[in-house]
Amino acid sequence: ESSVLSVKELMKNHKITVPESYLRLDQEPPNPLNGTHVPASIPTFDLESLLSKEDKEFQLEKLHAICKEWGIFQLVNHGVSSSLLAKLKHDMLEFYELPMEEKMKYKIKPGDVEGYGAVARSDGKLDWGDRVYMITNPIQRRKSHLPELPSSLRKTLESYFLELQKFALKLLGLVMGKALNIESKEIEEIFEDGMQSVRMNYYPPCPKPEVVMGLTPHSDATAITILHQVNGVDGLEIKKDGVWIPARILPNALVVNVGDILEIMSNGVYRSVEHRATVNSVKERISIAFFVGPKFDAQVGPLTSLINPDNPPLFRRVLMEEYVKTFFSRKLNGKSHLEYMKIEIA
Ligand code: SIN
Ligand code: FE2
Repeated sequence: ESSVLSVKELMKNHKITVPESYLRLDQEPPNPLNGTHVPASIPTFDLESLLSKEDKEFQLEKLHAICKEWGIFQLVNHGVSSSLLAKLKHDMLEFYELPMEEKMKYKIKPGDVEGYGAVARSDGKLDWGDRVYMITNPIQRRKSHLPELPSSLRKTLESYFLELQKFALKLLGLVMGKALNIESKEIEEIFEDGMQSVRMNYYPPCPKPEVVMGLTPHSDATAITILHQVNGVDGLEIKKDGVWIPARILPNALVVNVGDILEIMSNGVYRSVEHRATVNSVKERISIAFFVGPKFDAQVGPLTSLINPDNPPLFRRVLMEEYVKTFFSRKLNGKSHLEYMKIEIA
């Protein structure tokens, strides 16, 4: 219950022993340490390639294949300027450098999930990172966290969200529209003024990276997530064909990953990617994840146009609000919350 709120603070006290609650002997060690050979890096996709008339069809096929096989890719030529990304890095670093008393203003309140700090999972295990999580859309669901952030960070975040919004829905519409033969209308209705949220992560260096998790394995309760490694330090790992592989990300590329909601809506054509964050002994790591989902009051389920006698629905329908609530109330454990939505086939 009274867990350490900040790992950064813990490390400042020069405690050399990592507290028991951070030791994750239940988890497979990070890849470079477990000796498995490292396959090729995650695919890259060029957003501008969709603008070219000649190439568009081919590129959409490629995007479709990536979403099916990997559920994750690094997006380049995404239109977010490097000066904005540099500003984001500056402002986020500055935020995490604030004195503890300042950051405590944003502290997670009991029973809430939004705010600054660590959330102890039901097994009492803790992740090696300090995070700020908040819902950013729809506007009326915003709490006081964003408006109360230091004004430079707030403005930078708002510009950053606008930039991501410019392509997020388009990407969703294109992938699903083309590959799944869905009218973009149907998609717009579900995602218009949908749930969006953000998670800012700060992972301090860790003296025992081989037995500690920055973020426990999970898949996201979103349609897609856009992740940026703010200070360019790698640490994301994805599970592919049962093996954890480290994602080596190009500087300033944005990582896009398929979340559970897209897996459900596509009736399993796309697979949400299981991922985790590892830590390292020398470098601090900063990342920001932007989550894009349907409206809170949308009934999420396999899209009706995909269902026929040969393709029965694989997932139950669920209210987005409900899905998010269950996600936060359960222990993070790979894709277990999505499993729970599956329809048993006799
Ligand atoms: C996340 O899964 O939200 C963040 C992963 C990371 O920090 O790389
Ligand atoms: Fe995630």
